[in-house]
Amino acid sequence: MQSIAEQLIPFAVRAPSGHNTQPWQFSVNQDSIRIFPDLSRRLPVVDPDDHALFISLGCALENLIVAAAHQGLAASVESFPADEPEACLRVRLSEGADDNTDALFRAIPERQTNRGTYNGQAIDASDLTAMLEANGCESVELRPLRVGDPEIEPIIDFVRQATIAQFNDPAFVAELVSWIRFSQREVSARQDGLAAAALGFPAVPRWLGRWIMTRLVKPEGEADRQEKAIRQSSLLMLFIAREHDKRHWVDVGRSFERVVLTATSLGIAHAHVNMPCEVEPIRRRLAAHLGLNAGAQPLLLIRLGYAKQRRPASPRRPADQVMR
Ligand SMILES: Cc1cc2nc3c(=O)[nH]c(=O)nc-3n(C[C@H](O)[C@H](O)[C@H](O)COP(=O)(O)O)c2cc1C
Repeated sequence: MQSIAEQLIPFAVRAPSGHNTQPWQFSVNQDSIRIFPDLSRRLPVVDPDDHALFISLGCALENLIVAAAHQGLAASVESFPADEPEACLRVRLSEGADDNTDALFRAIPERQTNRGTYNGQAIDASDLTAMLEANGCESVELRPLRVGDPEIEPIIDFVRQATIAQFNDPAFVAELVSWIRFSQREVSARQDGLAAAALGFPAVPRWLGRWIMTRLVKPEGEADRQEKAIRQSSLLMLFIAREHDKRHWVDVGRSFERVVLTATSLGIAHAHVNMPCEVEPIRRRLAAHLGLNAGAQPLLLIRLGYAKQRRPASPRRPADQVMR
């Protein structure tokens, strides 16, 4: 029979991750769960310092904590404890969580990255407050930016510049193509990566998908598409780590996951427009534009709003494939 700790893993693996790499492994013993980075699933081009990988681990950690609370278990977390032989997040479970996380728990299977069309409807002030309050991490600052306000224009410009830089880089495109699952057969075989359906593409053979991505997709056209998507959204939310190290990256993931679970519970969709955080020289310019303190880093940028329709769910490897 499965232990309660093992029953939590399927909720953890529903977490989002960069290119849906699912860069995690878990081990479970009597009173604790460990989450390890799976460095064989790194994205060396788009994420050379692994900050997005550790953000993804933070998302999985937060789902695990929410699912534990739903079972009445409190989680105490140690990030990268020194007495472990390998870098990991260690979660100890004990009886007696204060469970007001029911809405977040119900949102775990519902949450998805929705890259589709939004209707531009404004988000109520009370819903924005609920999302901002969901950030339980002192080490992470959230900056909401309303679409339509003049302050959004320079941010759109950063998104455009970074998108163009990425799509002009053959190594970026090659890495992206290697994680796109162009057909249902590829999705079933791998159970990871960016499924064509989730990206809004029809299924095609790999040779054709690669040809489209390398020959037909143009940097300017991609920048136009991202700008249009932002202008149809209600809000951008920027996640800023107060320092640039593994602990803070995990905290960004925890904060992000709580915000988007809260958004999901309110019927608000989200998608990443993360490019200015991914291209290092542009990230530096964005930090300077925002007047951030030395060391603070803008690490995630998402758009939020009301989607016209849900997208097909992205695949996940089953829990037994990520257990040590
Ligand atoms: C750290 C991080 C960075 C991400 N960056 C992007 C991005 O730049 N563009 C994008 O479309 N999606 C991005 N995503 C979303 C993932 O592609 C998505 O979570 C994954 O494909 C799984 O799909 P799901 O969120 O619908 O479950 C990112 C997610 C995380 C956690």
